[in-house]
Amino acid sequence: MSPASASSPRLRALVLGSGGGGGVPQWNCGCRVCRLAWSGDERVKPRTQSSLAVSVDGANWLLLNASIDMRQQILATPALQPKGDGRHSPIAAVLLTNTDVDHAAGLLSLRERQPFTIWGTQAILDTIGANRIFDVVGRAIVPRHAVKLGEAFEPLPGLTLEVFPVPGKVPLWLEENEVKTDQIGEGTVGVAVEAGGRTLLYAPGCARVTDDLKMRIAAAHALFFDGTLFADDEMIVNGLGDKTGRRMGHMPLSGPGGTLEELAACAPARRILIHINNSNPILIEGSPEEARVKAAGWDIAFDGMEVVP
Ligand code: MLT
Ligand code: MN
Ligand code: ZN
Repeated sequence: MSPASASSPRLRALVLGSGGGGGVPQWNCGCRVCRLAWSGDERVKPRTQSSLAVSVDGANWLLLNASIDMRQQILATPALQPKGDGRHSPIAAVLLTNTDVDHAAGLLSLRERQPFTIWGTQAILDTIGANRIFDVVGRAIVPRHAVKLGEAFEPLPGLTLEVFPVPGKVPLWLEENEVKTDQIGEGTVGVAVEAGGRTLLYAPGCARVTDDLKMRIAAAHALFFDGTLFADDEMIVNGLGDKTGRRMGHMPLSGPGGTLEELAACAPARRILIHINNSNPILIEGSPEEARVKAAGWDIAFDGMEVVP
């Protein structure tokens, strides 16, 4: 690291997990992408489930979501491993963007009486608060801070965040008969991370692009966006499930109203797809679908990717 970068705040993001729910390969899946991954084919990188780590000093890190693959991600990431003698962790804070299993269950891996802080909207904190298994992460040691939509807060010195509503739905494990799949509220949010005048936007789940989201994206230097499915019906067509992407609260990349079309004009120079489901053919290097998203200006996140916005 040069002296200049050591002294001035410099926003850095590490992709801990670039896969969607289930990861790549998924434990019970033999779809085209998973088959290549199971066989060790170099065209498909294995991916853990959705999470990003951000820091300005490289010593203290904020996790954007607590992936169910947390332990594996820490093992793969020296920056997140304990330094010095005794108990220690560079993980100083965790922000949740929703309460899906892939994004929240990793809190259970952070349960060994280690101080850090948890941040989320009141609705998100209420959901984990109503589920007593999360009390294993003791509130006296790990306080939970509610944040309001559109209000700036500083979970770590020099790192300013703002959460904003993104159309989405209740987590799968709380679904009842009627599910509104593009609800605007506190249940699904995106987050803007700002440090030293640089802004990164993270929205791993998005059912629909709103005007507010377009404005925020236009002002950001880097965007990590929902890359769950390539085609809305790919789970159905491949015999993997009976839901469309939109039914799962994720807009597809292709097709009318898809991400490639919706964000063609307003995405920043650095735009990266994350939370990519194992059914998505962009995960196969050299595939026509990968070529299409790259030609549209998108990068495809991989575990261990580092981004300096
Ligand atoms: C999703 O993003 O749709 C969820 O991860 C689904 C799930 O919990 O498996
Ligand atoms: Mn998910
Ligand atoms: Zn699969």
